[in-house]
Amino acid sequence: MTSTFTIAIDGPAGAGKGTLARRLADHYRLNLLDTGLTYRAVAHSLLRLGLPLDNVSAAETAARQVDLAKLDRAVLSAHAVGEAASKVAVIPSVRRILVDKQRAFAKTPPGAVLDGRDIGTVVCPDADVKLYVTASAEVRAKRRLDEIESIGGTANFDEILADIVRRDERDMGRMDSPLKPAADAHLLDTSEMAIEAAFLAAQAIIDDVLAKRNEA
Ligand code: C5P
Repeated sequence: MTSTFTIAIDGPAGAGKGTLARRLADHYRLNLLDTGLTYRAVAHSLLRLGLPLDNVSAAETAARQVDLAKLDRAVLSAHAVGEAASKVAVIPSVRRILVDKQRAFAKTPPGAVLDGRDIGTVVCPDADVKLYVTASAEVRAKRRLDEIESIGGTANFDEILADIVRRDERDMGRMDSPLKPAADAHLLDTSEMAIEAAFLAAQAIIDDVLAKRNEA
């Protein structure tokens, strides 16, 4: 039997889980899936067709067409697409279609790092390591502002903060697969932690699990 290794990373928008996931996938030579892109791809299809985001059958069709190998981060990373993604993400049938694809990805050797909102709770409840990465809404808003300004853009802190709070409420308050830490997740609060420190903390947790697995 071929064994795989799965690292599940969940947390709210802007907590740094994407960067952490990339670093860990590189370090442990695992496949990487940003599951947020799958919800963004569905939202992007509906926006492009001019369809409302609560059109369930169109959203299901778009979800079936999502190809994990063809997710275009440059197109999907737009702020409006993220907002729209959190609206299609409340549709249970869309979640089921995308979760099936995410699970198949996780099972492909040698295993994967997946980041999202429901990886440790729903997509990969048996993941070898579960991390829940969080940071205060203010810190996440400041990071987003710095990011926008670093590429020459301008934005308003209060508006970014309001967006973040609204997205948190939508993601944590939905009926199906709300954002919450799995009971066995390790919590990493990056409010006062640089990404390198978060990476080292995650690495210590993962190395410990790997050592125990090798002993068994
Ligand atoms: O992480 P990202 O900002 O790209 O995610 C966009 C939206 O997709 C989230 O706000 C959330 O509503 C949804 N999502 C989800 N489950 C996941 C990943 C993302 O519901 N596993």
